[in-house]
Amino acid sequence: MRFHSAFWDEWQRLYLPSLDKHLLFVIENNPVEGKAALEYLSTSPQRWAAQAVQIELDARSLQRCADVEAIREAHRSLVIGELENEVSPLLRIFSRISEDVDAALNQASAYNQRLPLRDVADKLNLHLQNFARSSDKYTVRFYPIIKSWREIVTNYIKELAKITELRQEIDSPYIIGVPLTLEQEIFTGRNDIGLRMIEQLLLDYRRPPLLLYGQRRMGKTSLLNNIGKLLPNSIIPMFIDLQGAPSSASDHAGFVYNLAREMEKSAKKQGVTLPSLAREVLKSDPFTYFYEWLDKVEQALEENTVLLALDEFEVLDNAIAKGRFDEQDVLGMLRHLIQHRPRFKILLAGSHTIEEYQRWASYLINVQVVHISYLKEAEARQLIERPVKDFTLRYEPNAVERVLQLTRCHPFLVQLLCAEIIVLKNEQDPSIRRLATLADVEAAIPEALQSGGFFFADIQNNQVNATGQAILRFIAAQGEGAIVSRQRLLQEFADADITFSLLLQRELIEEVADGYGFQVELIRRWFV
Ligand SMILES: Nc1ncnc2c1ncn2[C@@H]1O[C@H](COP(=O)(O)OP(=O)(O)OP(=O)(O)O)[C@@H](O)[C@H]1O
Ligand SMILES: [Mg+2]
Repeated sequence: MRFHSAFWDEWQRLYLPSLDKHLLFVIENNPVEGKAALEYLSTSPQRWAAQAVQIELDARSLQRCADVEAIREAHRSLVIGELENEVSPLLRIFSRISEDVDAALNQASAYNQRLPLRDVADKLNLHLQNFARSSDKYTVRFYPIIKSWREIVTNYIKELAKITELRQEIDSPYIIGVPLTLEQEIFTGRNDIGLRMIEQLLLDYRRPPLLLYGQRRMGKTSLLNNIGKLLPNSIIPMFIDLQGAPSSASDHAGFVYNLAREMEKSAKKQGVTLPSLAREVLKSDPFTYFYEWLDKVEQALEENTVLLALDEFEVLDNAIAKGRFDEQDVLGMLRHLIQHRPRFKILLAGSHTIEEYQRWASYLINVQVVHISYLKEAEARQLIERPVKDFTLRYEPNAVERVLQLTRCHPFLVQLLCAEIIVLKNEQDPSIRRLATLADVEAAIPEALQSGGFFFADIQNNQVNATGQAILRFIAAQGEGAIVSRQRLLQEFADADITFSLLLQRELIEEVADGYGFQVELIRRWFV
């Protein structure tokens, strides 16, 4: 090595082509000398070679991971320097996957390892797709590695599934945090809301727009995904997530194009083929062409009507507020649909009332609110005791009662708590595993508060103001079921009066006699 000019001539500034290969060769054959050379070069004009070698060494060490145990350790030896370079994002991906695998393997039961590992496998699939699309030389180098990691993880998940069966662990059907799709058996209840919508849609000759109004995580999107099951066949629901493509478009042409595409996709799922709308024609006068397209859509609908469900309307409002879209054009288009297109019924969904969004109120007159709130008790019981066919966990009667009390039949909270109960049961001895007791429910509470932290933190940070937080903490401190008198709160907090209405509107507290208490015990626990 020392015969190489990079070492005897410290002023050597010429680019020395195969220096990196040479260095790698040395490191592999004489690690001590190689490492010293690497350190020396990293401060010399031949730094590029040291860097290239380091990247290749990292790649090789990641490639050597042959099982999940090796993958879980990989992040400990990966050094991602503070200096950003082209590979840092790649290395960070591997490092994070390794950490996630490590965290998953720390779970006690095979079943509980499998859940987070499935997330890891999903991520790996996504990365693999992205890697495949890139022709960047480093991405190309790391592609086979991510592929091999994916294989290792998916194979291990399969092994775990076998172990779960052998050890008779309970398979959790609960889905937390993502809206339920049409295929998911666990979607429960909501027939009453379906009926209310039908009444409004079919019977009110004024065809008012509907607002599906409910607090965060109350199940608005899940309901919209499943609404087809509850409506007669003559109403074709088309679901548009305004948080997605339409609102992220950069201009009106992009907006209507994405809107039309989402409508097409939705219709297709229900066996209705809509004409497609070409993007180019939209450039000059997007709304005129969009209306022409709607004419064709109406023909394709024959006798049917469309329920155009726009989820997260607040996001579109935000885009209008930022000036990305023109209020009059976009909201005027909705009004046009309501007034002149009897085949289209508009439904907005969100966690705010129209009154809170004045802009909309002036375009959409006569909005009818359909309130979505807690499940009915029978629906929540079903979610606890028979979430899916072949569910193998039974509950003692008082344990079911306790889940109902703690969650007040809030669909997300029922799923959250029940999922944690299964996690606990799977760690217990098989002889007592299949029966959930009151003690199990109590033990799952802290776990649920922790794993559902994002839900509770959103309430605390985004839905109430400082006084609201203080009032909630004050009531929470009085214990389970406590009602604090209005008088008392007014004494404690200067601007309590205006805050009450906010807390009531967010459905966090309720008025009982002449005082206020928490609506949901689990939420109170968070504020203790
Ligand atoms: N009908 C239902 N049956 C069973 N579980 C449900 C139902 N509706 C909602 N959930 C549970 O609540 C969670 C949240 O549902 P969803 O995302 O549909 O709520 P959302 O009101 O759209 O929330 P956000 O305001 O955050 O958009 C789901 O992941 C699921 O666990
Ligand atoms: Mg939603």
